[in-house]
Amino acid sequence: MKIKKYRVCIIGTGYVGLVSGTCFAQIGHHVICVDNNKEKIENLQKGILPIYEPGLEKMILKNKRAGRLFFTTDIAEAVKKSEVVFIAVHTPTKENGETNLRYVEDVSKEVAKAMDKYKVVVSKSTMPVNTGQKIKEIITKFCPKGLTFDIVSNPEFLKEGSAIKDFLKPDRVVIGVESKKAEKIMRDIYKPISSPIIFTSIESAEIIKHACNAFLATKISFINAIACICEKNSANVKEVAVAMGLDKRIGPDFLKAGIGFGGSCFPKDVSAFINVAKKSGYDFNLLKEVKKINKKQREIFLDKIIKNVPALKGKNIAVWGLSFKPNTDDMREAPSIDIINELVLKGAVVKAFDPVATKKAKEVFKDKIIYCKNAQEALKNADALVILTEWENFKKITPEIIKKLMKSPNVFDGRNIFSPQKMARLGFNYYSIGKK
Ligand code: NAD
Ligand code: UGA
Repeated sequence: MKIKKYRVCIIGTGYVGLVSGTCFAQIGHHVICVDNNKEKIENLQKGILPIYEPGLEKMILKNKRAGRLFFTTDIAEAVKKSEVVFIAVHTPTKENGETNLRYVEDVSKEVAKAMDKYKVVVSKSTMPVNTGQKIKEIITKFCPKGLTFDIVSNPEFLKEGSAIKDFLKPDRVVIGVESKKAEKIMRDIYKPISSPIIFTSIESAEIIKHACNAFLATKISFINAIACICEKNSANVKEVAVAMGLDKRIGPDFLKAGIGFGGSCFPKDVSAFINVAKKSGYDFNLLKEVKKINKKQREIFLDKIIKNVPALKGKNIAVWGLSFKPNTDDMREAPSIDIINELVLKGAVVKAFDPVATKKAKEVFKDKIIYCKNAQEALKNADALVILTEWENFKKITPEIIKKLMKSPNVFDGRNIFSPQKMARLGFNYYSIGKK
């Protein structure tokens, strides 16, 4: 396959920017990753990564050595050297649900000022509908007079923990364009990736991204609501989810009941989409309920602990898992934050272990909790074990070992990693999600 190699830059070297930049280099393009965080860039130049993502370190090293991947804080130089400029900065939501577009707007201005010839400017960040047009206005205002450019929306669908695979083998690539020239360039860029490419209008692409995250979050809240009904009726939500998922129209993914969704995207994007709907004159009550169920799910879990480990003050609580999901060290909106803070408030002594998130968790919990070197250490003398992230390694520790190390056999499993029957047989008080 003949592949045209492009010179691209990615502005914002966070989870999305770093993974996208590395993967674009991996498929042959010349990539400059830009960030205004000097320390982050200096570390990346030395090969020190700001995030844990399986396979990423090796791929960065390989592409740096091949002379295809570079890191800089100099946005103007990166833009000048590139044919295609990706914007991958964060787009947090404000208290009122509105998206804070400050970072996107700042970058658009800087890109415009540095432009010296035709460029394609691509939004990779998740943005509310019509942001593309805002970027176009900013670039038109600040770029040299008479210069032409195209804007594109190319939302990203990768999941943390499996980001490289998701980027290189996505279910589909969505590209919103408004010119044939930009369409051709984007088609060329993605040519080595053999997934379907869907070309749409820019506005559709922006809505597709929010709609996908909102739908997946809805699926999770739906199964969590079913879990509550299961618990009251001696049913098992895992059995229910398997049978539901076998219906091809429903599908098996995102039907794991638990302590609710966290992370940097679902919570913010559900709120942002409610706001987009409101501005469009539609009251998205369904999504408001999705948020409520998600919050409630953590409260229900906490109530179980409080009810079944009376007088929490001074009790040793072992916590397994701090990151918002396995295979990442990302602590943003992790359910562990609400749950642990509440346990600490009640006077419990929390001894926690996470395979990779401890460093980032220390920034959140400071010295409010004790950080253990491994899962077994956390269990020693524990009055209860609370499982918050379903790391594979936790599943390998047998209930027999768990019981031997703990003072009292109380297990609160927020991720349903053990068999309720086996735990009951071994004499545990085992509280899981969606099973009486
Ligand atoms: P992040 O916070 O990890 O990274 C953003 C980076 O942008 C930071 O390193 C920051 O220093 C940099 N930045 C901010 N302003 C800058 C500027 N003016 N110049 C240069 N760099 C600047 O964010 P993220 O998780 O990578 O998310 C980025 C976007 O992608 C968001 O819109 C998010 O919703 C979307 N997204 C994220 C994921 C994910 O898994 N994290 C997946 C799909 C989409
Ligand atoms: C999610 C989407 O899956 C990605 O497609 C999207 O690109 C990304 O958001 C984004 O826009 O940033 P991510 O947040 O990395 O990816 O992780 P997920 O695997 O989706 O998990 C999100 C949360 O939902 C986690 O807290 C996880 O524990 C929870 N979850 C997930 C469940 O509770 N049940 C499930 O069945 C699946």
